[in-house]
Amino acid sequence: MKYKLLFVCLGNICRSPGAENIMNHLLEERGLTRYISCDSAGTSSYHIGDPPDRRMSITLKNRGLPHQGEARQFTPIDFWDFDLILAMDRSNFRDILALDPSGDHHEKVKLFCEFARHHSLQEVPDPYYGGPDGFEKVADLLHDACEGLLEYLNQQGTVKW
Ligand code: 4NP
Repeated sequence: MKYKLLFVCLGNICRSPGAENIMNHLLEERGLTRYISCDSAGTSSYHIGDPPDRRMSITLKNRGLPHQGEARQFTPIDFWDFDLILAMDRSNFRDILALDPSGDHHEKVKLFCEFARHHSLQEVPDPYYGGPDGFEKVADLLHDACEGLLEYLNQQGTVKW
């Protein structure tokens, strides 16, 4: 059974598909696709069915990375389908927990920035209303947190490879 990661932001067009695509790239590069899989979702319904934001796609393309996906909304079924749910900011984190009133799945929801090794930001800033510089910073932070998360999963023995 693969260990399943779900990245979650608000719209599922910028940050969380960015994290998903960066992580998929790292998994392929390191030969880990048989151990770990990932997906992404948004807490809102704003962009359901939309492709990723062009500005994020350009940022990733310039780094030789794809930015594929089709936005979907987070659903409580995701608590059962995924092993670890990574919220991009505190508002996403709260909105996810609110969908689990029993608290049974709260343990598997984390702020993604916890795993960053070279950035001290606590949240992945929402780049949607900003300029291109914001997307570059987000991509750097996502990359850092993806690498940190893989290191954490390996060190904890959560996923063995
Ligand atoms: P994301 O960015 O949560 O990183 O996908 C946003 C996308 C859309 C909106 C806000 C943030 N919006 O308000 O439509």
